[in-house]
Amino acid sequence: MTSETLSNLSHEERRFPPPADLAAAANVKAEAYAAASQDFEGFWATQADRLDWGQKWDRVLNWDNPPFAKWFEGGTINAAVNCVDRHVDAGNGDKVAIHWVGEPEDDTRDITYAQLQDEVNKATNALVSLGVTKGDRVAIYLPMIPECVFTMLACARLGAPHTVIFGGFSADALASRITDCGAKVVVTSDGGYRRGAPSALKPAVDEAVAKVDGLVEHVLVVRRTGQDDIAWNDDVDVWWHELVEQQSTEHEAELHDAEHPLYVMYTSGTTGKPKGILHTTGGYLVGTSYTHWAVFDLKPETDVYWCTADVGWVTGHSYMVYGPLANGATQVMYEGVPDAPHKGRWWEIIEKYGVTIFYTAPTAIRTFMKWGKEIPDKFDLSSVRVLGSVGEPINPEAYVWYRDTIGAGETPVVDTWWQTETGQILISPLPGVTEAKPGSAMTPLPGIDADVVNDEGESVPDGSGGYLVLRKPWPAMLRTIWGDDERYKDTYWSRWPGVYFAGDGAKKDEDGDIWVLGRVDDVMNVSGHRLSTTEIESALVSHPKVAEAAVVGAADEMTGQAVCAFVILRESAGGESGDALVQELRNHVAKEIGAIAKPRQILIVPELPKTRSGKIMRRLLRDVAEKRDIGDVTTLADSSVMNLIQSGMSSGSSDE
Ligand code: WT7
Repeated sequence: MTSETLSNLSHEERRFPPPADLAAAANVKAEAYAAASQDFEGFWATQADRLDWGQKWDRVLNWDNPPFAKWFEGGTINAAVNCVDRHVDAGNGDKVAIHWVGEPEDDTRDITYAQLQDEVNKATNALVSLGVTKGDRVAIYLPMIPECVFTMLACARLGAPHTVIFGGFSADALASRITDCGAKVVVTSDGGYRRGAPSALKPAVDEAVAKVDGLVEHVLVVRRTGQDDIAWNDDVDVWWHELVEQQSTEHEAELHDAEHPLYVMYTSGTTGKPKGILHTTGGYLVGTSYTHWAVFDLKPETDVYWCTADVGWVTGHSYMVYGPLANGATQVMYEGVPDAPHKGRWWEIIEKYGVTIFYTAPTAIRTFMKWGKEIPDKFDLSSVRVLGSVGEPINPEAYVWYRDTIGAGETPVVDTWWQTETGQILISPLPGVTEAKPGSAMTPLPGIDADVVNDEGESVPDGSGGYLVLRKPWPAMLRTIWGDDERYKDTYWSRWPGVYFAGDGAKKDEDGDIWVLGRVDDVMNVSGHRLSTTEIESALVSHPKVAEAAVVGAADEMTGQAVCAFVILRESAGGESGDALVQELRNHVAKEIGAIAKPRQILIVPELPKTRSGKIMRRLLRDVAEKRDIGDVTTLADSSVMNLIQSGMSSGSSDE
């Protein structure tokens, strides 16, 4: 991180104390920090008591064999029972759990907790009829429709870990994830809606199923768009409306061990192979439900919560499904994009349902800033009382716009830092406690031991930067990488003994508050989603015309970072270049990984800048991609390379 960034941060003098009424009635007050640091395990035991357990745990935390944690050891619990049945049992069956809003206007569904219970139980019985038993893996490839939530909870009920694969991933990505976790059933739909038009999903599943060699026994298909031209294989495919609808609404749930696997979520790392992040049941539910209640100050009786994330990412798992439902919240779930059929769609939804807590990503906020405040200004947003941000650092300008325009200049914004691996929010203001600074995630939550350290692993003094680490386990932490304990140790726990390193750089300001500065490894953050440079490089190199590729993340006004690729062609490409080839390569990446990974820009270059030991100097490529003067080239093996690349810059590039 540059000294310029550091000094910019210390110039930020705006402070936003909590509104007095919110502070007075807040779920969590300042005392929580001290209580948690005086009795760490006692603090988490208290939070665990917010849930319904079968057998109580013998031990809050078993950390005898780091980095393999066991939380609430000896306890038994069922996540679906905690998210659904217990609210019905408590007399809240008529309360709306999900206000579902489809992308086509007027396509809505209000689902009460009692109805959710029926739907989850039917889906559970349907999975059982397909031969799914405890421990089996189920892959879910669905749009943002209620059946996705029903299926996740049905899996949780059975103890069959799910892996939800974001609908934007390609057939190849789907196949590799199905293979890695050995899923025997896939739940999908004919398609979903995108900007008013149906877009097919099932063909990608068909392609993936064909690739994984008989591994998948059944594909359960929700009819969402009614496209009539989808292929059908009677041996494998079964319609949801035929199988699930005929099932009983009764299902006796088994209690699972607190450490029983709940789900696997694939995420990108610095190598090409996605990592299956394993989350287990008890600790995950404690971590997500407590933080959802604390960070958003959730009052389940009166709040209407809305998280705009796709359920295919971890935010959808922790803060749309498990956290909010465990807390008995009423929430909005929206299928579509923010600008269909018009750019005020989100604000219209807030007005219609009286949303009080709203959680979204900086990339969306920047897009709305670009569209102009006249759009949200047309709607009544006065119900909103807490605003949240997640996915990447939020620029102070975006933060203040969000607070002013969506929050009427008085609503607290919580900038929540966490990761797929952490499962739960770890660093964030508390809306009733923290005097927030725009752009800062501020303080580790009660019960969380985060720090910023130098290369030696020593805590840096206030006013300096370093690596963001966690010194103590936390309940919703990942337990391992599916099938690869060694990679789990190496990736997260090897840099400093006993310390979790998240891959982010951060700064402690003069007051000791934390500013997350972004990734320090070769992982990009595009629209709040992690993409691996290596993975995209491998996709490019798998194209027959490509000899070598280097990918960097370049600053992008809207998406935070954008994928920029530098490609050397094979001789056999015959000196081909130009827009058609660039387009072909971009589509190739979309096919291999998914549209989210499609490079914004591809430069065909004659050489790549390498050190004498052959390491690609991405720093220089980033300079080029961000149109800066290139930095120090003295360690380059051949210093003329950069001239070649820069002179080729104007040709062979493509912006969409
Ligand atoms: C990476 C994790 C957590 C769910 C969404 C992304 C970045 C996340 C913040 C924040 C600064 C943030 C980090 C982190 N990040 N939240 N509030 N401030 N950076 O999950 O795909 O696992 O990505 O997102 O770089 O390591 P993910």
